[in-house]
Amino acid sequence: MEVVIVPDAATGGRLVAGAVAALLREHSSIVLGLATGSSPAPVYDDLAARHQRGELSLAGSRAFLLDEYVGLPPGHPESYRAVIEREVVARLDLPGAAVRGPDGGATDLEAACRDYDATVRAAGVHLQLLGVGTDGHIGFNEPGSSLGSSTRLKTLTAQTRRDNARFFGGDPEAVPRHVLTQGIATILAARHLVLLAWGEAKADAVAALVEGPLTAMVPASALQLHPRATVVVDEAAAAGL
Ligand code: GLP
Repeated sequence: MEVVIVPDAATGGRLVAGAVAALLREHSSIVLGLATGSSPAPVYDDLAARHQRGELSLAGSRAFLLDEYVGLPPGHPESYRAVIEREVVARLDLPGAAVRGPDGGATDLEAACRDYDATVRAAGVHLQLLGVGTDGHIGFNEPGSSLGSSTRLKTLTAQTRRDNARFFGGDPEAVPRHVLTQGIATILAARHLVLLAWGEAKADAVAALVEGPLTAMVPASALQLHPRATVVVDEAAAAGL
């Protein structure tokens, strides 16, 4: 695992957007694994800036989302699909139809997970962006998730619902209880994993995932199993290393 400590999130965003630009020079059409939350935002900002300067095009590329809430009404502004539409699709030339995510509104959630998992693996993600929860989760794989898991239905912990309440008017009860998430094995199938973490609130999770034992209790420690994992952190998030 490679750990890169940057002075601030904007520098980290530029660095990772640069890796995406390099992939596009190599392949012209790429498969990106997109994450939501505040951690990947500097990457999306820099990708959008490069696109605006005419330096980068995702027109022929595809993207897959890591996870999705279950049961939000279609078009809900905090569905991860809507977040990615706003933060990525609307600011770049990645076609909306080229972005797929787990279908949290499916009537048969199990079948939706099975299909999604097969589609993601068949597509072959070149670069998967990841944030990390304060409890060490990746995607919505909460502590205790099997390191061999595929896309499936999960129940959020009280901690994650509290952490994500800021997107739902500050009320943890307004955060859906259930989610669909790519499994840890699905995530590990990507060719390059890039985990981003900013700020002191992430310091414990970063120390545990980089230097702690490989354990299902810290799902992000699964990055230790991957031949090409990069952890990009600012000084505050690196404080426990
Ligand atoms: C959510 C998402 C994760 C994300 C995590 C951290 O729970 N499902 O994919 O990594 O939050 O969010 P943030 O980047 O806002 O700290």
